[in-house]
Amino acid sequence: MSAHPSPVSPFSASPSRAPASPAAPLSCPAVVARLRAAGCVFAEDEAELLLSAARTPAELAAMVRRRGDGLPLEHVLGWAEFCGLRMVVGPGVFVPRRRSELLVRQAAALAAPGAVVVDLCCGSGALGAALAARVAGVELHAADIDPAAVRCARANVTAAGGRVHEGDLFAALPAALRGRIGVLLANVPYVPTEEVGLLPPEAREHEPLVALDGGTDGLDVLRRVTASASAWLTPGGSLLVETSERQADRAAALFAGGGLSARAVTSEELYATVVIGTRPGEYQATAGRPRP
Ligand SMILES: C[S@@+](CC[C@H](N)C(=O)[O-])C[C@H]1O[C@@H](n2cnc3c(N)ncnc32)[C@H](O)[C@@H]1O
Repeated sequence: MSAHPSPVSPFSASPSRAPASPAAPLSCPAVVARLRAAGCVFAEDEAELLLSAARTPAELAAMVRRRGDGLPLEHVLGWAEFCGLRMVVGPGVFVPRRRSELLVRQAAALAAPGAVVVDLCCGSGALGAALAARVAGVELHAADIDPAAVRCARANVTAAGGRVHEGDLFAALPAALRGRIGVLLANVPYVPTEEVGLLPPEAREHEPLVALDGGTDGLDVLRRVTASASAWLTPGGSLLVETSERQADRAAALFAGGGLSARAVTSEELYATVVIGTRPGEYQATAGRPRP
């Protein structure tokens, strides 16, 4: 596999083909044919990416084999494109989804320059890192319970100037952040337990259950987040989560129960729903600075 690309480096949707090894035994059409035979719908695009990434013919063959075996393309490459940036994604770590760009867009509209931003349940840390690339001078923290995710997030979040913590939800965060968070992103697992088995094999076989399973109604982790969020937000600060359209009303009710005023935003383009809850009070642009 190629060396990890620099995190948060610009990504071109159509990267120019790297000079393929002259001795490459697998031609582009051969790679396309193997990927297509394995059921890859976007075989041409994937072939181009694999040919660009492989440094040797043997590496290319191995990558094509792993992809053909069903590994997510991002795990084979070692990175995912997210919000126009290249994010490191290690094996066994949730691959950031394009629909989650709605969370980042909404968060960017709310975050004041210099705000404290927390990416809770950060996975690869892609959301927080993408937000930090859009809003000047944020104090970025990210946290996850899964050590593999934390390792991966360290690459993306540290490159974006932030810090990564390991542990269960808010228990992972430094106590000094309590009452200071301006924007709290939390893309928690929200698939109802009995629907996990219906997910595509790439997710169900290669992403950890802890990243997918949200309990009986999919809202177990969100329930815990909304119960504590208000105490961690600064007045006027906001919690943003992704839900399915079907869960949005119940999610909004949980926000209200946690003392946050809630609204939902949907994007047909991204097929995404985000619920945003705001703690009452006036949001201070200086939220990033600790209170004297
Ligand atoms: C749906 S994934 C989202 C990852 C990332 N935010 C993204 O959008 O790409 C959910 C993440 O929540 C983490 N997680 C699940 N339960 C957690 C808990 N109790 N405390 C902290 N993180 C948790 C998982 O390890 C996983 O990385």
